[in-house]
Amino acid sequence: MNKIGVIFDLDGVIVDTAKYHYLAWKKIADALGFEFTEEHNELLKGVSRVRSLEILLDIGNIEISEEKKQEYLVSKNEDYLGFITKMEADEILPGASELLDHLDETGIKYVLGSASKNAPLILKQIGLYDRFAGIVDGNSVSKAKPDPEVFLIGAKKLELEPGQCVVFEDAIAGIEAAKNAKMVSVGIGDENTLKKADYNFNNLTEVPENFFERLMTLN
Ligand code: BG6
Ligand code: MG
Repeated sequence: MNKIGVIFDLDGVIVDTAKYHYLAWKKIADALGFEFTEEHNELLKGVSRVRSLEILLDIGNIEISEEKKQEYLVSKNEDYLGFITKMEADEILPGASELLDHLDETGIKYVLGSASKNAPLILKQIGLYDRFAGIVDGNSVSKAKPDPEVFLIGAKKLELEPGQCVVFEDAIAGIEAAKNAKMVSVGIGDENTLKKADYNFNNLTEVPENFFERLMTLN
């Protein structure tokens, strides 16, 4: 691997938006009269908005009409937008800016590979939008993670082969997507949850200075 590029997931890697998704989904669970815990919320990480609603309704053991589902999807996103439109650069997770600086200094290109349709807005809010060589988000894919589509499009934007791409992910579905794309996977967060990843770090501050340089020396 003499040349590499990096694909970053957004939610849970660069920003902690899970808390905002949680609050917005919880409002729906409250309205429908069932408990939705932060533990339940783990199941929604990395998962598309539509699939998240299905999982939420399964948790509550509730069936609703297609029309009602559409209404909830719209209201959930309105509530979520209420939170993310207030986000600023101070919500960038520790180590993220420094890692991007390091990649810029070493000339390693990076793109975004996120399931979120709100990814461009969030990146603009926190002032990182212009730093990425490309953005692949929930608007540009037809198949959700663990399907590799989002990362394979990312590899095209990097003008690299999948095997030359390194994916940073906090979700099980995302690590699976990276594996399915035959890319190097880096799990950010709990090592036990993300044990299928090739490399694990609790957060981005733990990524060693020479991590990418060492990857490039591997075959
Ligand atoms: C992922 C999040 O990044 O984006 C999921 O981890 C979320 O929790 C998904 O459901 C879709 O986000 P959005 O912003 O399109 O509703
Ligand atoms: Mg994520």
